[in-house]
Amino acid sequence: MFSLAKLSALLLIVPFVASAPVEKRATIDTSSHCGLFDSLLDQWGASGATSGSDCANLVSLSGTTLAWKTVWTWTGGNGVKSFTNINVNSGLNKQLSAISSMPSTWTWSQSTSSVVADVAYDLFTSNSAGGSAVNEIMIWLANFNAGPISAQFNSAGQAVPIVSNLSLAGHTWNLYFGSNGANNVYSFLPTSGTITSFSADINLFLKYLTTNRGVSTAQFLTTAQGGTEATSGSATLTTSAFSLVIN
Ligand SMILES: *[C@@H]1O[C@H](CO)[C@@H](O)[C@H](O)[C@H]1NC(C)=O
Repeated sequence: MFSLAKLSALLLIVPFVASAPVEKRATIDTSSHCGLFDSLLDQWGASGATSGSDCANLVSLSGTTLAWKTVWTWTGGNGVKSFTNINVNSGLNKQLSAISSMPSTWTWSQSTSSVVADVAYDLFTSNSAGGSAVNEIMIWLANFNAGPISAQFNSAGQAVPIVSNLSLAGHTWNLYFGSNGANNVYSFLPTSGTITSFSADINLFLKYLTTNRGVSTAQFLTTAQGGTEATSGSATLTTSAFSLVIN
């Protein structure tokens, strides 16, 4: 959830295996990014695991749509270990008021649902271009025995949404709100099931927050990613189509 903690970043090469030896990785400049997307392993919570790993490989790129795959396994600890994701490089650091649309498609499948993980978009906004995060906006397509960050929980220990049964982008969502200690976190979760074939304008979620939840349209969109936050278990997440463009 800390986008800056990109412990491993690799440039887009088709095809490549992200679990390349460390000595090869050390020669890649990860400080500047080019092209539409990066693939990031983002193992920000890996030190909480007793063992495990995640890797990713890009399968194909056609226009602005890519196919990719991640294989991960983590044991131990209660927190998220990795957010293996596709990171958008193009069109960032606009103010929300200047974004006209963010068309996206995401079609995926996962080898098992018996894990603790999510499949989600992760966006960050800041007071300035490239600045530190003020708001994190997550759009979950799947909740595999995990749960959102929330300021409120009921007596059964379940997160309590701040908005229920919200119709947006062709699906019904519950919206949760809380803090990860560094920034606000807004999480849209589907009210039921998983969304394995998603096609919508991601800007609708940002517009909802600026219109209804007091998020300033002067905020800058600094980060836009789609991936899986993996806590424990073993899974292969196969994305046959992913696209996210910021207009
Ligand atoms: C949301 O929808 C579900 C299913 O229709 C319903 O049971 C629930 O009461 C609704 N929640 C709210 C807060 O309206």
